[in-house]
Amino acid sequence: MLKKLFGKQEQRQPANTYWAVVARKRFVADKVIELELRDPEGRDLASYTAGAHIDLYLNKDMVRQYSLANSPAESDRYLVAVLVEEAGTGGSKAVDKEVQEGDKLLISEPRNNFPLVEDAPFSVLVAGGIGLTPLLAMAYRLKALGRPFKFYYRARARSWAAYADLLVSEFADSVECLFSDEGGRDKFELEKRLADLPAGTQLYTCGANDFMNYVTETAVKYLPEDNIHLEHFYPVPAASTASDGSSDSSSEKAFELYCEKSDVTLQVPADKSIVEVLDAHGIDIPVSCVEGVCGSCITAFTEGEVDHRDCVLSKSEREKKRLFTPCCSRAAGDRLVIDL
Ligand code: FES
Repeated sequence: MLKKLFGKQEQRQPANTYWAVVARKRFVADKVIELELRDPEGRDLASYTAGAHIDLYLNKDMVRQYSLANSPAESDRYLVAVLVEEAGTGGSKAVDKEVQEGDKLLISEPRNNFPLVEDAPFSVLVAGGIGLTPLLAMAYRLKALGRPFKFYYRARARSWAAYADLLVSEFADSVECLFSDEGGRDKFELEKRLADLPAGTQLYTCGANDFMNYVTETAVKYLPEDNIHLEHFYPVPAASTASDGSSDSSSEKAFELYCEKSDVTLQVPADKSIVEVLDAHGIDIPVSCVEGVCGSCITAFTEGEVDHRDCVLSKSEREKKRLFTPCCSRAAGDRLVIDL
């Protein structure tokens, strides 16, 4: 899929990308590899805000997104942590087997679909396993701002938990680590931890989809939905939702696509995505994950209803009926007008 989408671009470097050198590669927990990326000439890297991620071009057919885990105040390096998954889609295995210290990797500029509300009276960070990476950057930022927060980090086992010691040494009483093999699952009791939070508290969670479902189902009893923020690593199955809030399982059908700026009308058949149709007609659009996770392709639409299938846009963003992800989302009706 990616090869096809990038087919026309294979000979040129994708926009907004640059080279970084792998200055260090090391295991920071069982199955978790940390890559430290620096500019090959020792210059500062592009700045970023807490919660941001970058694309790593592991080869010309494989682009993966990883959250930046270090403090946004550090200008000379990016840290990403990758869980090596035997049953994954190949990205983590490529990091494990193919990426070596000293290699140059093409990376994107940082993007942030998971921004921190920096003036919140209180913040709660809830990480499941490797989902701690964007939250770690948030904790650094909150500490720098002098803002109160609590960081709950749950992992299957201490040996699997990247940065657990670092969290405790950096953030001391603000951190609670809970490991299932030490009874952490029973002790988690998120309900108790979310009771009596100050008004305006913001909650951020990242981890496996089941874990985040549990956190959000619990958190919504105590906090307004707009104060609960999620970052997905994986696409959510059957995440299809029309922009009017209704579910639409009928999905694949052909529709007409009008590109306003290009003044072009295209037909999107049932077996093609909008991005594929645009690509075939020479209309470039930035894409990366092509499965609704990274936000690279977010595009404005001006007419029609969208059957949203991503996990990047929040409920309130969908309700505004302005943005969608053409890599995976489709028209809910017969026609969609987009701002391209
Ligand atoms: S390309 Fe990643 S959300 Fe569309």
